Amino acid sequence: MKLSKRAQKVSASLTLAISAKAKKLKEAGEHVISFGAGEPDFDTPQYICDAAREALEIGFTRYTPVSGYEDIKEAIIYKFKNDNDLLYKNDQIIVSNGAKHSLFNTFQAILNPGDEVIIPVPYWVTYPETVKMSGGKPVFLETNEKDNFKISIDKFKNIINTKTKALILNTPSNPTGSIYTKKELEKIADIAVKNEIVVVSDEIYEKLIYDEKEHVSIAAINDDIKDLTIVINGVSKAYAMTGWRIGYAAGPKDIIKIMTNIQSHSTSNPNSIAQYASNAALRGDHSFMNERRDKFIERRDYMYKKINLIQGISCLKPEGAFYILMNIKEIIDGGEIDGSFSFAEKLLDKKRVAVVPGIAFGVDNFIRLSYANSLNNIKEGLNRIEKFVNEIQ
Ligand SMILES: Cc1ncc(COP(=O)(O)O)c(C=O)c1O
Repeated sequence: MKLSKRAQKVSASLTLAISAKAKKLKEAGEHVISFGAGEPDFDTPQYICDAAREALEIGFTRYTPVSGYEDIKEAIIYKFKNDNDLLYKNDQIIVSNGAKHSLFNTFQAILNPGDEVIIPVPYWVTYPETVKMSGGKPVFLETNEKDNFKISIDKFKNIINTKTKALILNTPSNPTGSIYTKKELEKIADIAVKNEIVVVSDEIYEKLIYDEKEHVSIAAINDDIKDLTIVINGVSKAYAMTGWRIGYAAGPKDIIKIMTNIQSHSTSNPNSIAQYASNAALRGDHSFMNERRDKFIERRDYMYKKINLIQGISCLKPEGAFYILMNIKEIIDGGEIDGSFSFAEKLLDKKRVAVVPGIAFGVDNFIRLSYANSLNNIKEGLNRIEKFVNEIQ
């Protein structure tokens, strides 16, 4: 049977092989330490679960408006005003089934066949695939570790051509943990406005920021860039609600309208109970986040110190999110291991430690380690990595 050429261009997840093997080993009773988690290791706070129960009790179980019910949109508008100094109206917001779905709707709404989307490398795995699924062409913009993996303004200018439609920004970043400063965003915004480039700004890790750093949304720089920006956010990471599937987007009302039309014929409204609970999440007392943030900082600091003490590997100190991108270039250059995938495979085989190969993010000299794991597991896992690295060098 002939299948869709467009769909066949979408890659299977490179990380699947490692995680499937890790799962099998665990099921066989092996003590596998996993640094693969893409979600907080905390539970959804009680007040949010209580709201979900209330939704059931009051019968909030029917279709809602496609782009989200009134109360959650109000809560999102308030969040943007309060946290980001951004003013949006009701028709500039759409609630979807997770931020991933918000991104999918965005590219479906803005891309024509062959339109180019600039994706800074390292990138979150889904970006190139979601662009391809919408008929667009991913164009990769390389960055350097010495620049904290942030884009160079000159390189950005040079890569723009008549087919350039959009730029994806992810701050704080998965997988690097880097954060763009207001000054850096001003420069990017200036070029985007001059060249009429849409900015898709993925801010899903906004609440996971450390060391007095500040999150700035590029949309808040000025009205010109706001008119070109679609901000993507959601409750998955901030409220430990990855399974509830609620994300949202804010932007120019003509784009949001098209996204709503697309959603109306694909998934309709996101789950009503999850919307109700997310509304409570956004409006509730956020003090629980401080304790969780402190835990992430403690783990990050431990990992940063330990990794940089091990001969042959190194890492930067992430400023946000919950990932460390570990440089393994020296080890690859040594011989036996020829890239991040074989590093990850051998590490799992020999030491029962699961990690995500950097090749999945476009950087084969790196490994992504998540610190959404207990400090005990992190210590044990890094001890095993240390042994592994010493043995193979
Ligand atoms: C950078 C980034 N954006 C978006 C998402 C998707 O979040 P959601 O669970 O809301 O679909 C993730 C999840 O891993 C992510 O890392």
